[in-house]
Amino acid sequence: SIPKRDTAAEQLSEYSEEHEDNHDKITTTWGVPVPEKDASLTIGYHGPILLQDYNLIDEIAHFTRERIPERVVHAKGAGAFGYFEVTHDITEYTAAKIFSEIGKKTPIAVRFSQVAGELGYPDTIRDIRGFAIKFYTEDGIWDLVGNNAPIFFVKDCALFPSFIHTMKRNPKTHMRPDYDMFWDMITLRPETTHTCLIFFSDRGIPASFRKMHGYGTNTFAFVNAHGKFFYCKFHYRSEQGVENMDPKVAQKLAGEDPDYHLRDLYNAIENEEYPSWKFYVQIMTPEQAEKSSYDPFDDTKVWLHSEYPLIPVGRFTLNKNPSNYFAEVEQIGFDPAHLIPGIEPSPDRMLQGRLFAYGDTHRYRLGVNHLQIPVNSPFKASHFARDGKMTLHSQGGAPNYHPNSFNGPKIDKRAKALSPVIPLHGEATRIDNGNDDNFTQARLLYQKVMKDDEKDRMIQNMLVWLKPTKPQFQDKAVKMFSQVDQDLGKKLKIGLGSSPHIDL
Ligand code: HEM
Repeated sequence: SIPKRDTAAEQLSEYSEEHEDNHDKITTTWGVPVPEKDASLTIGYHGPILLQDYNLIDEIAHFTRERIPERVVHAKGAGAFGYFEVTHDITEYTAAKIFSEIGKKTPIAVRFSQVAGELGYPDTIRDIRGFAIKFYTEDGIWDLVGNNAPIFFVKDCALFPSFIHTMKRNPKTHMRPDYDMFWDMITLRPETTHTCLIFFSDRGIPASFRKMHGYGTNTFAFVNAHGKFFYCKFHYRSEQGVENMDPKVAQKLAGEDPDYHLRDLYNAIENEEYPSWKFYVQIMTPEQAEKSSYDPFDDTKVWLHSEYPLIPVGRFTLNKNPSNYFAEVEQIGFDPAHLIPGIEPSPDRMLQGRLFAYGDTHRYRLGVNHLQIPVNSPFKASHFARDGKMTLHSQGGAPNYHPNSFNGPKIDKRAKALSPVIPLHGEATRIDNGNDDNFTQARLLYQKVMKDDEKDRMIQNMLVWLKPTKPQFQDKAVKMFSQVDQDLGKKLKIGLGSSPHIDL
């Protein structure tokens, strides 16, 4: 339950104590002292308000514009700041400057989120959680926009908008979840099986953002100083351990304290219990990728740790809350296309779509100059983009065109040397890869990793979502999960009440 007066509740009192000798005067937004704040300018006691009361008009006009479009996904979230520190040498795999020496520290911003709910949605619902990191490196911004699951439901970005629609509000009733939309798509695309096992497991409701692991999820690539190319996956493992929440407790908290996860993170940082994660990579050579028994660019699959062990790289810590939520969390914009020399995209079809989506949505949500908002801004940027709404970054008299003969910025030879030559061949075509062995890894997870009690709870959680849907989707789901494990299918069937539709 909610502590009566937690650290978050003391925020204003703390401000007050720290500002006992505050002599600031109320001003307009353009800095002019105002003569009156409790009354508008009227003609007499009951007279109408004058247009001349420009201070009032300015305040109301600002207020009516306070909201910007919320993120189309991952709208509800919490953010914090801290640093990343290198603990192990991985320069044999990447020349990215952030990893250049042990002990090197890089400032970071992190945003945790849920995927489907809107800005005011309760925190403790069943969902995948976002776990995005912005690294402010000397080579510019690197955004690693990950989740708390190593895999995703669908593998081709072409299916992402539809999949998200099934998790969001029904366009006619405006209600969610719509179990028919969800199970219809899930059972039409069995590639969702593996992530469903995670979604309905204990991990579907973390106890705290601090107590979950994170994953880059998509496959990326590294280039080392000799130009050698490797594929990689990123992992971050919580030093607080993993803890999940009983769905009944979660349901109660959703009503009592909808901001439970925000409160938990805020209080921990204010109380100097700084959360931290160890950072690892998995490495696959292009030769190994060619021979791999599963598609290493398929984001519904993990890279088996037995074949591709976690290589330790560093550690990150969050030690500062935002000083203003809107400025620093609502306006933060992560973009998987923001990569630095030494880190490259892979042919992962989901990642390829993401390379376009985020910059596009930021131009809509935050504006064309979103990278000039302080929280998104690199230490230094010299380029030929100019102007647009809310331009802040002045490049002075530097030439705004390339090439030029006037000492404008030059190509960085190191960045050029590190840009990989990717040998591509094949015909442009559309190949549906949805039926690419969707069950082997899911079976491994269910049979070899999950303990019996975890399996039972996952089945109960699945049933909560399956019971309200139509028998035709229940039938299909039972058949789909039976391909993971006959026993799983049977238990679901029994749980649904032996429906005559299902014939295993
Ligand atoms: C946020 C699109 C796949 C993780 C977002 C946002 C969009 C988006 C539009 C909102 C960004 C904003 O307004 O600031 C897409 C598209 C995808 C895709 C089109 C597929 C083609 C994925 C996948 C992951 C993921 C596979 C798994 C790691 C996230 C996270 C955020 C996010 C963590 C929240 C970032 C934040 O905290 O601000 N995505 N996404 N997305 N996405 Fe994706």
